[in-house]
Amino acid sequence: MSAQTQLRRKTVRDMAKAKGGQPLVCLTAYDAPRAALIDPHCDLILVGDSVGMVVHGLDSTVGVTMDMMIMHGQAVMRGSQSAFVVVDMPFGSYEASPQQAFENAARIMMETRCQAVKLESGVYAEETVRYLVDRSIPVLAHVGLRPQAINVDGGFKAKGRSDDERQRVIAEAKAAESAGAFGVVVEGVAEDLAAEITELLSIPTIGIGASASCDGQILVTEDMLGLFDWTPKFVRRYGNVKGEITAAVENYASDVRGRAFPGKAETYSLNSEKSLKIPRVDD
Ligand code: KIV
Repeated sequence: MSAQTQLRRKTVRDMAKAKGGQPLVCLTAYDAPRAALIDPHCDLILVGDSVGMVVHGLDSTVGVTMDMMIMHGQAVMRGSQSAFVVVDMPFGSYEASPQQAFENAARIMMETRCQAVKLESGVYAEETVRYLVDRSIPVLAHVGLRPQAINVDGGFKAKGRSDDERQRVIAEAKAAESAGAFGVVVEGVAEDLAAEITELLSIPTIGIGASASCDGQILVTEDMLGLFDWTPKFVRRYGNVKGEITAAVENYASDVRGRAFPGKAETYSLNSEKSLKIPRVDD
């Protein structure tokens, strides 16, 4: 990527400026063509570890690896031009120590050339976030419902129902801010808690299942495109990709079986203007 391309991208400063202003538009992407489609409309693209569930068929994000995140991060960077791209740190890649986090975050930044990393940050992670930011790695924190904690939580559970839990989520968000995170994803909390956190912090909050009171919104792209039968309550479907794919594949199968595809238009013939030569990349 040239320096010019790098300069066209939104920066961490654009993210910070969004505090209290026009909401940040954020979506996930895991591959180049989808990144290219959403890039002109998004402020921030997250290469989320949700890739494990959405693309790789895992039942949680716990099995996602560094190599998976790096491969998808590289694809999204190739496909996008202007959005600020953040790559998730997978489970097990940052919790052991700030040094472990730095080694893995630096690898993600160097091998993908993304602009920042995201990590699911309990209060314990304050030191880690500070360690990364002090060493030139911008961090987006993630508080509230933390999908990588599924095994201690016993499922994907909304957070902040009890007073204790509420105080814990607020403490997580404040710890991330004081450690230098440029923003915080707030997942799965009721509106009053999201509003309180957004009010308390001077950095932007990006909500997912956290009401319109946040400074931005993020969804898993495939959820909002309607690829799945089931989606969480907080998802609004803006498309019917599952229906479109199913209809197209049904039509294709029926055409192939009925010998309606390929037809004349899709067939080379000796008299046709179209060359019989198979095009090569370097032709
Ligand atoms: O992995 C992911 O896609 C995420 C978003 C849903 C916030 O963390």
